[in-house]
Amino acid sequence: MSENTTEPQLAVIILAAGQGTRMKSTLPKVLHSIGGRPLLGHVLATARGLQPESVLVVVRHERDLVVATVLDDAPDVVVVDQDEVPGTGRAVEMAIAQLPDFTGDVLVLSGDVPLLEDETLTRLIHTHRESGAAATVLSAVVGDATGYGRVIRDPAGGVERIVEQKDATGDEASVTEINAGVYVFQSAALRAHISLVGTANAQGERYLTDVVALMRDSQLTVGISRAPDAAAVLGVNDRVQLSEAARTLNARTVRRWQLEGASILDPASTWIDVTASLAVDVTVLPNTHILRATTIAEGATVGPDTSLVDCEVGSNATVRRADATLAVIGAGATVGPFAYLRPGTYLGDGGKIGTFVETKNATIGERSKVPHLSYIGDTTIGRGVNLGAGAITANYDDIAKHRTEIGDHVHTGSHNVFVAPVRIGEGAKTGAGAVIRKDVPAGALALSVAPQRNVEGWVETNRPGTAAADAAARSRSAQKADDGAQEQDG
Ligand code: UD1
Ligand code: CA
Repeated sequence: MSENTTEPQLAVIILAAGQGTRMKSTLPKVLHSIGGRPLLGHVLATARGLQPESVLVVVRHERDLVVATVLDDAPDVVVVDQDEVPGTGRAVEMAIAQLPDFTGDVLVLSGDVPLLEDETLTRLIHTHRESGAAATVLSAVVGDATGYGRVIRDPAGGVERIVEQKDATGDEASVTEINAGVYVFQSAALRAHISLVGTANAQGERYLTDVVALMRDSQLTVGISRAPDAAAVLGVNDRVQLSEAARTLNARTVRRWQLEGASILDPASTWIDVTASLAVDVTVLPNTHILRATTIAEGATVGPDTSLVDCEVGSNATVRRADATLAVIGAGATVGPFAYLRPGTYLGDGGKIGTFVETKNATIGERSKVPHLSYIGDTTIGRGVNLGAGAITANYDDIAKHRTEIGDHVHTGSHNVFVAPVRIGEGAKTGAGAVIRKDVPAGALALSVAPQRNVEGWVETNRPGTAAADAAARSRSAQKADDGAQEQDG
């Protein structure tokens, strides 16, 4: 709600009914994501930042899917269903009909223009109110105007009309000032002119942009506010523009965290979702993706080559060349290189998940280490534990998953298999190569491998004439000569 009662009220209409044919996608265009949020989500966030009286979203294509996303994000939004009459003009006409008593200003935003900054809109609204114009158009001067409506000015520099690319003459098409698809209208003037919009254009649609010329015909003033940054008014119509928008948004996000005190070495190869957060003195090395609700605490180092989805990284932790989802990494813990942390991984403070280790539904206690070549699933590990290289929890018996429990200060030998359900008691030890099928009591040494037996001469007897047999024979005769020499010495 606007605090200042002398200012006119504001309603925001967001256009999101189109299919987005140029995306060539089964997903409606406005639901494609950048920075971890749908295009429409960004526009909604911008709209709500202005604290308007009401926000209306016009839907049609895949309306249930779009509405679900909108209401999930913003339950107070008014959903307007556009009928079969196509065009941005029709979309606005149907939305304004939902506000019969509204007398304030109407801001129109496009669901596919996701990068607008608050200041740009604040300035647009301010310009509109200062000038007393019936409508004010947001424009930008762009390098490549392909696909945009062009702003045609009159000799006095005022806006005369907007012409769509498909309807433009050669001269008009060479204009580099484009319509951003964002406008403020006095509600009365909008109501009076929107119904006059026809379909005499290349696409046979009712264009909102035609309102400009119609207002001029009624001797009303149409103002213009030029956005300083052309990248911020980018409209996403295809997947090339989608990736451009993602890159621009990401550059902003990276810069924001840098200014908040994070060292991000390579902004171009670092991707941070708008929903993630980084504390001070975090270091992000190249090729790192920090996604969804990931939080990284003070002093932690992540990367290079790391992907974190919905993770919590503790202070001063180090995560190198790792792929982690829904994992919690404790303070001072180390992960990687080459680690795969699946959902439900909790690594305690000072713990380690090392090289070529996969974990899932696994709690690894404080200062416990799984350093090399292991799979740890459905497991609870206490504190101060060290698992030998090649530890495997056999958690799945073809029917169900079972848990492995490993008590505090257990040390296991290399290449162990823990056949779950199984429990290893506190302080116990296991031998190399053990297959642990039965619980191990606290403090016990568990051995499951038979004592080694050497069958002397087996290779020469069973594989005569092979390189192995020859090598064995040479070694044995050299050994004999050695032994003989030693006897003489002795
Ligand atoms: C529109 C403008 C163009 C401007 C550009 C800026 C018109 C006629 N043209 O062109 O001048 O330069 O945006 O990005 O307005 N939509 C509806 N209902 C419809 C059709 C579209 O809600 O019947 C929605 C779409 O979902 C989209 C937005 O309106 O979010 C813009 O539609 P789009 O088809 O992308 O228009 P452009 O051709 O980009
Ligand atoms: Ca568009």
